[in-house]
Amino acid sequence: MILVAGGTGRLGTLVVQHLVDRGLDVRILTRDPARAAHLAGEHVSVVRGDVTDRDSLVSAMEGIAVAVSAVHGFTGPRTNSPASVDRDGNANLVDAAKAAGAAFVLISTVGAAADSPMELFRMKYAAERYAAASGVPTTIVRATAFLELWLDLLNQTAARSGRPLVFGRGHNPINFVAVADVAALVEQVVIDPTTRGKILEIGGPENLSFDQLAQAVQIAAGRARPPRHIPPLLLSLMANTVGRVKPQLGRQARAALTMDRSALGFDTKPIHQRYPDLPCTALASVLARG
Ligand SMILES: NC(=O)c1ccc[n+]([C@@H]2O[C@H](COP(=O)([O-])OP(=O)(O)OC[C@H]3O[C@@H](n4cnc5c(N)ncnc54)[C@H](OP(=O)(O)O)[C@@H]3O)[C@@H](O)[C@H]2O)c1
Repeated sequence: MILVAGGTGRLGTLVVQHLVDRGLDVRILTRDPARAAHLAGEHVSVVRGDVTDRDSLVSAMEGIAVAVSAVHGFTGPRTNSPASVDRDGNANLVDAAKAAGAAFVLISTVGAAADSPMELFRMKYAAERYAAASGVPTTIVRATAFLELWLDLLNQTAARSGRPLVFGRGHNPINFVAVADVAALVEQVVIDPTTRGKILEIGGPENLSFDQLAQAVQIAAGRARPPRHIPPLLLSLMANTVGRVKPQLGRQARAALTMDRSALGFDTKPIHQRYPDLPCTALASVLARG
């Protein structure tokens, strides 16, 4: 039995489907079982739990061979945060996996580091270190930014004005990866015990600026107008004003500033040399899928 914490999310949903298609039994951990309704099926069970609540993880972990963590607290709400979910919640999952004798697969981020300017990346790194020190056989999968998340945001912000909203200047090259590619790698590592103790990094075939992404979204939607931009100065202002009252908005503004100016390109060749059958989906294919 495989536990997927975050099995209701964008990546988790695909991971659950991959594992079930392999004939594996999957238990989804969610704070609200109704969110897992789209995954109901013969090989799927659902358990209510919250990674910030250690007690809720004990029964969730019973009989589990591999626990996958695809959770994050970046968008809140309230006390859900990178510190409470990505660092402490993952530590709780590691402890529960240890008690149950399960292996652990942690979904982390390319760029996870103790000194990253992004709080989420620092918290992911702390979780990586905690898992590595725990003695629990752990595989870490680091991914670049999920392409579909940003395409959705650009489309949503274009809904009224016909002009997508870009946070920052929009010139910085960033690697985006299709979620399906990440899910295919997670499936591989769940079933491959030789990946324990390893960090595998996955990205997509293209490094693109937000302006390029916005332009592609416009063409695919049959819209012609250029994107709007929130300038970096306004993002800094947001982080230091409203961001102090609403931490998730502060996080988002600071993350946007980092994405606007840090080196976020990625070379995807090494992971595809290791797993030649892994999909490597280009932006055009994701847009064509709709
Ligand atoms: N999005 C990206 O660009 C990106 C890039 C690299 C890595 N990642 C990583 O990939 C993983 C999946 O990301 P995603 O974008 O697919 O996520 P998502 O769609 O936003 O879903 C987040 C998931 O986290 C779960 N969750 C949040 N707080 C929780 C808590 N306190 N207890 C239990 N579950 C909790 C939610 O479950 P319920 O709401 O059902 O409880 C949900 O399934 C995350 O680890 C993320 O950090 C994402």
